[in-house]
Amino acid sequence: MSTTFFKLPVFGINAETADCVRLDFKIPADLTKDFEFSPGQYLTFKAQLGGEEVRRSYSLCTLPEDDMLSVAVKKIPGGLFSSYVNDELKVGDVLEVMPPSGGFTLPHAAENTNNYVFYAAGSGITPCLSMIRSVLAHQPEAAVSLYYGNKHTDSIIFREVLEGLKNQYMGRFSLHHILSQEAQDSPLFCGRINEEKCRLFEQKLNRYPGQSQYFLCGPAEMVFEVKDCLTQLGVDSKHLHFELFTTAGMTPTRVQQEEKVNAEAKIRMKLDGLEFEFDYTGNETNILDAALKNGADLPFACKGGVCSTCKAHCDEGEVSMAVNYALEPDEVEAGYVLTCQSSPKSKFVYINFDK
Ligand SMILES: Cc1cc2nc3c(=O)[nH]c(=O)nc-3n(C[C@H](O)[C@H](O)[C@H](O)COP(=O)(O)OP(=O)(O)OC[C@H]3O[C@@H](n4cnc5c(N)ncnc54)[C@H](O)[C@@H]3O)c2cc1C
Ligand code: FES
Repeated sequence: MSTTFFKLPVFGINAETADCVRLDFKIPADLTKDFEFSPGQYLTFKAQLGGEEVRRSYSLCTLPEDDMLSVAVKKIPGGLFSSYVNDELKVGDVLEVMPPSGGFTLPHAAENTNNYVFYAAGSGITPCLSMIRSVLAHQPEAAVSLYYGNKHTDSIIFREVLEGLKNQYMGRFSLHHILSQEAQDSPLFCGRINEEKCRLFEQKLNRYPGQSQYFLCGPAEMVFEVKDCLTQLGVDSKHLHFELFTTAGMTPTRVQQEEKVNAEAKIRMKLDGLEFEFDYTGNETNILDAALKNGADLPFACKGGVCSTCKAHCDEGEVSMAVNYALEPDEVEAGYVLTCQSSPKSKFVYINFDK
């Protein structure tokens, strides 16, 4: 996992809705390898705003074979970075960008299914769009359904692109808009996507129950309700993939592990082949902050357990994670941790960012 931020000029800025812009970047030939990505991954941006360094992640909406990398940034009222991008950023301005990362991606070919179901709301469409386009373009046998929640028609991000895909892949791509502040022909498509709606969609519209891969992205409340509903309907957790954009309003107790942590420990870390060791004194709340304070240059973005930029492998010793909204159960089982959420449980811990 690289900590390098590259300076990239903004090649294009296009309004997707009244409060969302798409940013395009042309990747110079010498950086194409660094910026290779899988559909569903995100870029992390770094900027100095209001006298502080801010890091924010934005999912790629393009395909690896496209000639540009694009992200869509929805303005959050009072939001530092999203307001800067929507209100001030100009074509030609230079942004600091970390290469793509993230595990919210399509399953490996061996696990491929022929039915993909996406539940998205608002800007949560961004990683889904890249995965939807990828499945439609590269898996000719596969069917895709998208349930996409927004307030009204004008706030639908990528509305024209989605309509275009529906026309191009008629019979393979089912597009369903669910609007909370605009009347629709059927009450099924009015309101917010929640547990009740998910149950109805699955019972009435899913042609391949039990054989689908699910991808959920949007506000935490929607994601957790849909996830719970699908779990109750018998969907295997291996077929359920989700990504959260914010920790706001979440209930950490859902995943909190109440375990004893060690106030003092020796931590050894490996990044880009180099080892670094320091004493964890318990003055910091997690291993990432303690390492940064001790002079390490490590990858991170949200520091809230949602993005996975700080993911590393715990090679030796044990840690306890306060929250985890980003790693899949099999990753945790395999020893991966979010360092921004980890405290040592053992006297010695070896954290490997290169695995
Ligand atoms: C893996 C990942 C991928 C992401 N992809 C995208 C993307 O493709 N497009 C996109 O627009 N955003 C995306 N985000 C969210 C983005 O990184 C920022 O969190 C968001 O733009 C707000 O940043 P800000 O600096 O404007 O707001 P801040 O100054 O950080 O926050 C201002 C206030 O808004 C609240 N807030 C922060 N984010 C949200 C949110 N998403 N919804 C509601 N309230 C919020 C905060 O709790 C705070 O109270 C992604 C986040 C992650 C972790
Ligand atoms: S920095 Fe985002 S999960 Fe740790």
